[in-house]
Amino acid sequence: MLNQNIGQGEGVYISTYGCQMNVNDTERMLSLLEMVNFVPVETPEKASLIIINSCSVREKPVHKVHSEAGKYQKMKEKNPRLRIGVGGCVAQQEKQKLLKDVPVLDFVFGTDAIDKLPEIVAQAYELQPNGYPQKVVSARFENEKPYSVETLVRNPGVSTFVNIMKGCDNFCTFCVVPFTRGRERSRTMKEILTDLNALAARGVKEVTLLGQNVNSYESDCSANFATLLKTIAEDTKIERIRYTTSHPKDFDQELVDISAKYRSKICDYIHLPAQSGNTEVLKRMNRGYSREEYLAKVKMIRDGIPGVILTTDLIVGFPGETEEQFEDTVSLIREVRYDNIYAFKYSPRPFTKAAKYEDQVPEDEKQRRLAKLLEVQREIAFELAKDYENITTDVLIEGPAREEGLYQGRTTQNKIVYFKDGTTDMIGKTMPFKITSAFPNVLRGEFAH
Ligand code: SAH
Ligand code: SF4
Ligand code: F3S
Repeated sequence: MLNQNIGQGEGVYISTYGCQMNVNDTERMLSLLEMVNFVPVETPEKASLIIINSCSVREKPVHKVHSEAGKYQKMKEKNPRLRIGVGGCVAQQEKQKLLKDVPVLDFVFGTDAIDKLPEIVAQAYELQPNGYPQKVVSARFENEKPYSVETLVRNPGVSTFVNIMKGCDNFCTFCVVPFTRGRERSRTMKEILTDLNALAARGVKEVTLLGQNVNSYESDCSANFATLLKTIAEDTKIERIRYTTSHPKDFDQELVDISAKYRSKICDYIHLPAQSGNTEVLKRMNRGYSREEYLAKVKMIRDGIPGVILTTDLIVGFPGETEEQFEDTVSLIREVRYDNIYAFKYSPRPFTKAAKYEDQVPEDEKQRRLAKLLEVQREIAFELAKDYENITTDVLIEGPAREEGLYQGRTTQNKIVYFKDGTTDMIGKTMPFKITSAFPNVLRGEFAH
């Protein structure tokens, strides 16, 4: 039996990098650590346990772990009970090497080891005969199917994340994720529905279904993602369903039809990462679609769900990308007119094919292309924002906004709406609002009586 008092009422601090999957994993870690008597704290100074939940998708993530862990060195000298660990994708990628490279660390745990965290931490508190704490590594992939993970969330609020699948089998040539999250595995539909019913009973109105590739979801009874959405819409009290990330090659007519049929619940917001607007680059990225095929998916989605908004991820400076090929990405965003884009400079990642491609694009050129793309998007976003002015739209009220004295909610298109005179009893309700002014990242509105 695991000691239920590993934390002895002391603080745990987790810093989180990366995607929503990591944000959700952090919540799970905190829930599990609370069960063994750790208390979540807001600053590392108050903690006896510090965890860096790392991301490896771009740039120099290992360096980030080094520099953050380095800051904790002095604290460790003062507090002999302080233990420092790294989880997430850098941990999975580096495993025991990370312990060697960053001596201040006590433990490293991979993306499939989260549920073992209390045991790992307990081990890290054990002293060896030489008086030093034991160093612990746990980074094996758990490959049995189905993937089972009850959602653990302490204060879900109005909106929360629920994992439905994990891993990725696509091996885009630029991407480290298949190596840090392992093979695709889906949860059973039954387990997901049980989770959602429990969350709805706790007041949750909106869920975001998470996975590296949600539309490759396949349940034990062979139900696909469209069937999962339909079942959630019909059989649970969840009022709004979002999901991320869907892969264009797996986005099919059935998913569009289900989204249109259950439109009151399935949100009018689809994140559809294109990565590039040039077919040759897409081929070398191993994305599984051409520019034309991607645009055909966009048309299929817009024809089936009029008014849906689209966002995307784009990479500039992929190895060998010429100026003309980059211009195809610029023309793609002009043609599709995304509400928002997440654009990144290509960054070579370990284990990936593209990192070995010889024709890497120089850094200053990548920077120039990124700036240009963002500039074009800025114009588009300002133009699109104007479409929201003076419309009346349903807003799910979330609670106080960051801006003093205001409340905030969200439209089905995931647009944040700020408004005055909010009250706590509005939280969780969906109400009509008139939009009085609109900017790319925020709308302002007033209750439409
Ligand atoms: N599964 C999702 C993406 C997950 S990674 C999908 O297929 O769309 C999130 C985003 O990070 C990617 O969409 C991509 O735009 C970006 N990204 C991934 N690897 C990258 C790299 N090596 N360099 C730059 N950006 C990268
Ligand atoms: Fe990475 Fe491609 Fe998988 Fe997305 S689909 S996680 S970009 S390998
Ligand atoms: Fe980063 Fe891993 Fe997510 S690499 S983006 S934390 S899946």
